[in-house]
Amino acid sequence: MSQLKNSDPQVFELIKEEEIRQKEVLEMIPSENYTSAAVMEALGSVLTNKYSEGYPKKRYYQGNKIVDSVETLAQERAKKLFGVPYVNVQPYSGSPANAEIYMSLLEPLKDKIMGLSLAFGGHLTHGAPVSFSGKYFKTVAYELSEHGLLDYDKIFEIAKSERPKIIVCGATAYPRIIDFKKFGEIADEVEAFLLADISHIAGLIVAGVHPSPAPYADIIMTTTHKTLRGPRGAMIMVTEKGLLEDTELAEKIDKAVFPGFQGGPHDNQTAAIAVALEEAGKPEFQKYGQQVVKNAKALALELKKFDFDMVSGGTDNHLILIDLGSKKVNGAVAAYALEVAGIVVNKNAVPNDTMPPFYPSGIRLGTPAITTRGMKEREMVKIAAWINTVLNEVHGEQVPDTKETRSAFWKIFRTKAKENENLLKIAGEIKELTQKFPLP
Ligand SMILES: Cc1ncc(COP(=O)(O)O)c(C=O)c1O
Repeated sequence: MSQLKNSDPQVFELIKEEEIRQKEVLEMIPSENYTSAAVMEALGSVLTNKYSEGYPKKRYYQGNKIVDSVETLAQERAKKLFGVPYVNVQPYSGSPANAEIYMSLLEPLKDKIMGLSLAFGGHLTHGAPVSFSGKYFKTVAYELSEHGLLDYDKIFEIAKSERPKIIVCGATAYPRIIDFKKFGEIADEVEAFLLADISHIAGLIVAGVHPSPAPYADIIMTTTHKTLRGPRGAMIMVTEKGLLEDTELAEKIDKAVFPGFQGGPHDNQTAAIAVALEEAGKPEFQKYGQQVVKNAKALALELKKFDFDMVSGGTDNHLILIDLGSKKVNGAVAAYALEVAGIVVNKNAVPNDTMPPFYPSGIRLGTPAITTRGMKEREMVKIAAWINTVLNEVHGEQVPDTKETRSAFWKIFRTKAKENENLLKIAGEIKELTQKFPLP
């Protein structure tokens, strides 16, 4: 980045600092990953200069012959990888992609979306009242069972009585396999469209370690930057089943993306998606996906030895959701202390959480990024022990009830954590470990 260093040393320094941070910590936020250098090169290419509203061979601007080839290549690779007949690779990210899907099928303020409740691991865009999805459409939410699992009988019951036009399956914080076949049967029974939001698990599906929704869903949406390990972005796919149900579904999606919701696509992002899809089609990626799950399972097994209370008792995929109620530590406190120690996770609500979303009772952690660095089961044993030590250091640190007492608590707690010798010692050990596992 010699050009940037000369022309804007301030931004250059900030990027360098972030690079060092990413190198020296264990990135364990399950929605994050490290892209390859090839993906970054495509993202930083001259394609960022181009405007190309429309679709291949149907553009509103001149000069798009090459961009057409880039977009077509991304489409073809996605279709092959996910086994679908149609894909739109233009959505800027996952949230706009979901908005575009709703726009293509639903009448605002009239039709109903049914999705997993935000408090139980659904995404904001699955009908949460604070998001456009809850503000502009009717919604009904399903929750998890007392064991932290999807309850398909209950979901069917709700769908029968509420008659949603679209059922969303997929989550941001669900550690188990999703039974897409059952969701497909439910959607068929109530004559709803089934949208599988596979943002979190797309890479696992490609690697064959999570079943694919392609035979059962009408529409599949995925972000491209999580387990799929591409640039930030998203894709909307229509399945054979979706096209049988509505022969115009693909055109409706295209129109909703452009001109319905977006203007010019980010062609540099499209090229980077194409690169990531090519990488994901390689045998090494299969091994990567398998290792992501092996690592998550190994980590869960170790955490169990320290009596951590995991939602659903463990994991089948890339993520673990820990309920810290029994450890008497608030999730926000735990996430802060873990970061001081060099382990980056996120605070997260757990099913039936009694705490507000900013101070939830749990943390969510995952293995996609550390697996990209080459870490295996042996490292998971160490990580579980570090997590246990950190949480023992902050045992009993609960967040006070009122706003005023909370800010005083945080001031004291932050200083205490940053001066805690055991946390700092772990941060040093992690810095040493991470040097053996370079970023791509
Ligand atoms: C299941 C799911 N859908 C959609 C999104 C939204 O993606 P983005 O953050 O790119 O808008 C996310 C992001 O976390 C997600 O987990």
